[in-house]
Amino acid sequence: MADWRGHGLTTPEVYRRMAAEELRGLSPSYEALCLGVSADAAVIARLDSLPGPKRQPNLLLAAVRFLDGPIADFAAFRSFVIDRWEDVAMTMLERRTQTNEAGRCAVLLPALAAAGRPLALLEVGAAAGLCLFWDRYEYRYSTTAGEHRLGASTAVLPCAVTGPAPLPGELPRVIWRAGLDLHPLDVCDDADVRWLECLVWPEHAERFARLRAAVDIARADPPHIATGDLLTDLPAVAAQAPAEATLVVFHSAVLAYLDAEVRAAFVRTVRDLAAARALVWLSNEAPAVVPGTDVGRDGPSRFVLARDGVPVALTQPHGSALTWLRP
Ligand SMILES: C[S@@+](CC[C@H](N)C(=O)[O-])C[C@H]1O[C@@H](n2cnc3c(N)ncnc32)[C@H](O)[C@@H]1O
Repeated sequence: MADWRGHGLTTPEVYRRMAAEELRGLSPSYEALCLGVSADAAVIARLDSLPGPKRQPNLLLAAVRFLDGPIADFAAFRSFVIDRWEDVAMTMLERRTQTNEAGRCAVLLPALAAAGRPLALLEVGAAAGLCLFWDRYEYRYSTTAGEHRLGASTAVLPCAVTGPAPLPGELPRVIWRAGLDLHPLDVCDDADVRWLECLVWPEHAERFARLRAAVDIARADPPHIATGDLLTDLPAVAAQAPAEATLVVFHSAVLAYLDAEVRAAFVRTVRDLAAARALVWLSNEAPAVVPGTDVGRDGPSRFVLARDGVPVALTQPHGSALTWLRP
């Protein structure tokens, strides 16, 4: 996944890269809009009036949808952005890219197959907390030996598995769950849920349905998401986890938004916590975002799943595929 904090790229380059590296083959409508934006001086000038991190393609595209703007063709999209720029800019400034993909639980779960003890789940960068319900979703792993199904739920998580992944025989026993986020979203707030819906790429009907189902599950038992920074506030949240559980500190699509020094300091914080109690650390991030997970960037967009800093699998960023790396 590209790092949209900029890294020296111009705004047209960011949109061109998004089209070529993230959207091609996955969202033709967004690919066309991003290519259109990249070549449109008037739209680019407006985007460039925003702070760097606020120029992100996903933010612009979701903001237009949030305002009921058109996304079917670039000409209409462009007119809307220009005519309603104040509203579009305000939405982009107020909101953030907080795509919350429950499907990622399918790639995280096998890394805990042998945990044994009950789990306390602590997600860093949890957004609305939809990845905290590992025990309430239905998993459908397709393997060369056939389908491996786990759980029964309205939220179904299909995942294509390659390699010797240790697929669990039963759902984990989760006795505590909590999130930590700079700006938590509230699953019980209709505007927050609508924002989450607008962040799902238009062609992804299956993901949209899963989001709706996951939101219903989360609304029945809203998760506690502490407001705070992953660097300074993790120890205080971790201290609330029951001692008899294995504490699973995990994050997915979060650390890429941070500087390398902050990432390194975060890793030190997690390792300090692990020295003091039973703790498993799972990271599911783009290659090299977590130190020691640089497996190269060839091929399709993918994340690296690492357990305690050691890469164990390559994953499709929304959780639909898993390639296990080691027995
Ligand atoms: C792209 S979302 C991913 C949400 C969720 N992890 C998932 O996989 O569906 C990234 C989240 O990280 C949060 N975040 C970014 N920087 C953070 C920080 N320094 N401390 C805590 N949360 C942060 C954002 O607010 C956002 O909700």
